[in-house]
Amino acid sequence: MKNLLNYEGKKVVVTGAASGMGEATAKILLEQGAEVYALDINDSKLDVKKSIKVNLGDKASIDEAVSQLPDVIDSVFSCAGIAGTIYGSGRFTPADVVTINFIGGRYLIESIIPRMPEGSSIATVASLAGMGWMQKLNVLMPLIKTSTFEDAKQWVDENITDPNVMDQDETKNGSYGLSKEALIAWVKYRAYSLAEKKIRLNNVSPSSTITPMLADFNDIAKADVTSSFISPIGRAAVAEDQANALVFINSDLNTYISGQDLQVDYAVTSKLFFGE
Ligand SMILES: NC(=O)c1ccc[n+]([C@@H]2O[C@H](COP(=O)([O-])OP(=O)(O)OC[C@H]3O[C@@H](n4cnc5c(N)ncnc54)[C@H](O)[C@@H]3O)[C@@H](O)[C@H]2O)c1
Repeated sequence: MKNLLNYEGKKVVVTGAASGMGEATAKILLEQGAEVYALDINDSKLDVKKSIKVNLGDKASIDEAVSQLPDVIDSVFSCAGIAGTIYGSGRFTPADVVTINFIGGRYLIESIIPRMPEGSSIATVASLAGMGWMQKLNVLMPLIKTSTFEDAKQWVDENITDPNVMDQDETKNGSYGLSKEALIAWVKYRAYSLAEKKIRLNNVSPSSTITPMLADFNDIAKADVTSSFISPIGRAAVAEDQANALVFINSDLNTYISGQDLQVDYAVTSKLFFGE
């Protein structure tokens, strides 16, 4: 029988592999026979080829992590992120949130791309919180078009207080929304030039998913956001639901999808659009 996913022996990088969606993704990839490089600020508990500590908010730390990766990488799963200005025991500024969730994640991916052969694939995890990206494209374009970590960070430092840039305050987790809008817009923008190299780049946008991060979303909103966006199937998503989508979209079963934002929400957004 043909192995449709075809991860056997593939060298894959999974960020955020110590918890939640990244960990669930790494587990499936290990079962599929991939050689998994787990990158996270915490150690992975899984039996991966290598667990490498990295802080996506710190360029030097990303450079150090990339230097420990093999010369050829077949797939990147960019799952790491923080919930907003509150995440676990950490407290972050709005600019930190955009740096970790967008600038650092993008810099890591760009640093790995020169090692990726034709036919390879990249998937990032954004969020339904970024679904307004298209309406803000003019505002976001200068950030998307920055080419270095430093330039992107400078743009964020100079512009994050502009209400057109961060159009929701922190009670509505505005910096998190901005970080995910930027990510989705960048995926759409960058996919074309990567297609010229025959590398696919897509994004998965989860609805509320039961992972350790949910408690932080509730803390930030001072409300139970967990139950606000539940599919009519009667349960919230779990990490494996998102991992399954990520594993599919980076697999050989995906032959012609690139530049897409795949909303993994079991129709939650249909309700948001039509309200019935
Ligand atoms: N859980 C949800 O409801 C939900 C919804 C939409 C999108 N997301 C996104 O899904 C992705 C995965 O989140 P999750 O729900 O699995 O949460 P999680 O907290 O379980 O996992 C996030 C992982 O990122 C790592 N991480 C955090 N800061 C880091 C840093 N500075 N450098 C490197 N690694 C770092 C953490 O150690 C952790 O392993 C995130 O990008 C998140 O924004 C989550």
